[in-house]
Amino acid sequence: MNYAVHRIAAEEWRELREITLEALRDSPDAFSLSHADAAARPDAYWQRQATAEATAEERATFTVRDEEGNWLGMACVEPIPHVPETAHVHAVYVAPAHRGAGGPAGDLVEATIRYAQAHIDVRWLTLGVHESNGRALAFYRRLGFEDTGKVIPYVRNPAEKVFILGLPAFRAIPGDGDDLGDRRVRVAGGSR
Ligand SMILES: CC(C)(COP(=O)(O)OP(=O)(O)OC[C@H]1O[C@@H](n2cnc3c(N)ncnc32)[C@H](O)[C@@H]1OP(=O)(O)O)[C@@H](O)C(=O)NCCC(=O)NCCS
Repeated sequence: MNYAVHRIAAEEWRELREITLEALRDSPDAFSLSHADAAARPDAYWQRQATAEATAEERATFTVRDEEGNWLGMACVEPIPHVPETAHVHAVYVAPAHRGAGGPAGDLVEATIRYAQAHIDVRWLTLGVHESNGRALAFYRRLGFEDTGKVIPYVRNPAEKVFILGLPAFRAIPGDGDDLGDRRVRVAGGSR
């Protein structure tokens, strides 16, 4: 199957709501928001959210679609409030029928990484994975994320843990070894 990854458009708020609710139904423990809370949010919330995810400089939501334009997954990236120099990838979801070898999950998350490298002026890129989510942990490690050693309580059940992974290559320049320093990755049109 051919997949296409796109940033959402401001008018796609209904699709954003549907894919978010689908993700929360499918994998309730993988996310911090509950299905009930998301379902109770008014249309105006989804309209604001879609507009911001489509147009803001320092945040974006990407979606994966099939050849007919059906939404099969999503992933978001934005700075973490109150954590200096850090953005995070979150709300990563691919519909069950499209997971596994040949699926679009890698391209989807790569799109968020590339966006953050080019548009978000932070040094670190992280994400959180629930302790029970072995599949997501293996997936992110394959993309180059590594354990940071940081563990935080899962917001919907503080007895459970969320592992924080980071992407060492986020600001690395190929061939420059491990010193990430204060440099910016080279992107099309120049370097930051
Ligand atoms: C996380 C997600 C996007 C990954 O996409 P995917 O298509 O399933 O990923 P892939 O199949 O390419 O990779 C999964 C890896 O986990 C491995 N795996 C599968 N089931 C596993 C399990 N139960 N425990 C450990 N590893 C597992 C696979 O072998 C594969 O590793 P490999 O490439 O080294 O062989 C997708 O599974 C998903 O949407 N899950 C539900 C929502 C979710 O958990 N989101 C993440 C929130 S942090």
